[in-house]
Amino acid sequence: MLNFENKIAVVTGSRLGIGRGVARLLAERGATLVLMNRGDTSDLAAELGKGAISVRGDVTSEADWAHLAKTVEDQFGRADILVNAAGIYPVAALTDMDYAEWRRVMATNLDSQFLGARALVPLMRKAKWGRIVNIASDVVGLVTPPGMGFSHYVASKMGVVGLTRGLANELAADGITVNAVHPGITDTEGASGMPNEVKAQVYMNQAIKRLGTPADIARTVAFLASEEADFLTGQTIAADGGLIKL
Ligand SMILES: NC(=O)c1ccc[n+]([C@@H]2O[C@H](COP(=O)([O-])OP(=O)(O)OC[C@H]3O[C@@H](n4cnc5c(N)ncnc54)[C@H](O)[C@@H]3O)[C@@H](O)[C@H]2O)c1
Repeated sequence: MLNFENKIAVVTGSRLGIGRGVARLLAERGATLVLMNRGDTSDLAAELGKGAISVRGDVTSEADWAHLAKTVEDQFGRADILVNAAGIYPVAALTDMDYAEWRRVMATNLDSQFLGARALVPLMRKAKWGRIVNIASDVVGLVTPPGMGFSHYVASKMGVVGLTRGLANELAADGITVNAVHPGITDTEGASGMPNEVKAQVYMNQAIKRLGTPADIARTVAFLASEEADFLTGQTIAADGGLIKL
C-alpha cells in the first residue's frame, strides 16, 4: 500500500472535484496536506488532519505562489509533492471566445503549472527528492464530441503535456520526477453542468462504461507521487476507463 508518512504534499484546486479526491487519498495514506485554493479551506484541512493547512491563493498569481512557497518553507522546511489539479473547462466556440477568456484558460490550466513548479522546485532540490503530478486532459482533442468548442482547453492541456516532458528532462538530476494524468470524464462539481448525454457520448466509447470518480483519478495520481514511481518520469497516464482514442 502506498505510504505518504512524513511527506508534505501541496494540492491546488483541492476545495472540489479531483483535487479534493487527491488531497483526501494522500492524507489517508499519511501525508500532511497544503491546500491551495482561492477561498478558505480550513474546514477541509481540519477534516484531513495530520497537520494539514489551508493557504489562500489563486494559481494564476505569481505573488500567491511566492506566498505559498514561503508558508510551506517556514512551516515545514520542505515540499515533497506538488499536484497541480486546479483547472477550468468552459465550452465556447472559437468565434465566441474573446482573447481575455483564452488567456484565462491558458493562465489557469497551463501558466499555473509553470508557476507552481517554479515556486516549489527550489525546496524539492534542497531535499534532492520531489514529485510533480500535473492534471492534463483531452490531449488529443478528439475525444470530445465533434463540433464542441473546446480548442482553447485542448491547447492548454497539450501545453501541460509539453511542460511535463520538458520539466521531467530538466529536473531528473535533482531527484524530481514530473508526470501528468489524463482523467477521462469524471463526476465532479466542475463537470456537473455538462449535459448527461454529452458525458454518455464520451464514456460509451470507454472500455469501462461509466463516469470516473475523483477517487479513480486520485489513485493514479498517488502512484505517480509515491516512492514506488521513482523510475517513471515525463509520462502522461490516461486514467479514463480505456477510452478508445481516434
Ligand atoms: N471532471 C472531468 O471530467 C475532467 C476530465 C479531464 C480533466 N479534468 C481536469 O481535472 C482538473 C480538475 O477538474 P474538476 O473536474 O475536479 O474541476 P472542479 O471545478 O470540480 O474543481 C476545480 C477546482 O479548481 C479550483 N480553481 C479553479 N481556478 C482556480 C484558480 N485560479 N486558483 C485556485 N483554484 C482554482 C476550483 O475552485 C475548484 O476547487 C482540471 O484541470 C480539469 O481540466 C477534469
